[in-house]
Amino acid sequence: MSSVLVLNGPNLGRLGTREPEKYGTVTYDELETKVGEWGGVLGLEVSVRQSDSETDLVHWIHEAVDSGRHVVINPAAFTHYSYALRDACALVTDAGLTLIEVHLTNTAAREEFREVSVISGVATGVIAGLGVESYRLALEAIASRAAA
Ligand code: DQA
Repeated sequence: MSSVLVLNGPNLGRLGTREPEKYGTVTYDELETKVGEWGGVLGLEVSVRQSDSETDLVHWIHEAVDSGRHVVINPAAFTHYSYALRDACALVTDAGLTLIEVHLTNTAAREEFREVSVISGVATGVIAGLGVESYRLALEAIASRAAA
């Protein structure tokens, strides 16, 4: 069974109340539940984590590489400037594992600073703008690549 670490960056723990007109009304806890259910349906073993700290995210990505787990990551604001996170993500794809970058919003259609992702260049793929569906589609992509 393929195993996936679903990682969420800063402020995503506030989903549900954080700018709901942009990020929706699904809470972080509800997102965790949905992601776990979607993973189960797709036959994936999924763990979901969130941290506001770049250090935690980098260490969790190392853990994914060491344990051979694929990664779905919403790097949140780190998307736009964290070279440390980018370098960690590169380790995932270099190891032959899949890394999908996800965003709830379409970052290309927002403020100019959000148009740049320092992560996309080392990701297997990017899914943005579909709300929590972005996560479901990322898991589907991992499941279908694992089955190929
Ligand atoms: C986000 C987009 C980022 O620009 C922002 O900083 C976030 C959330 C998204 O899911 O749309 O925190 O990654």
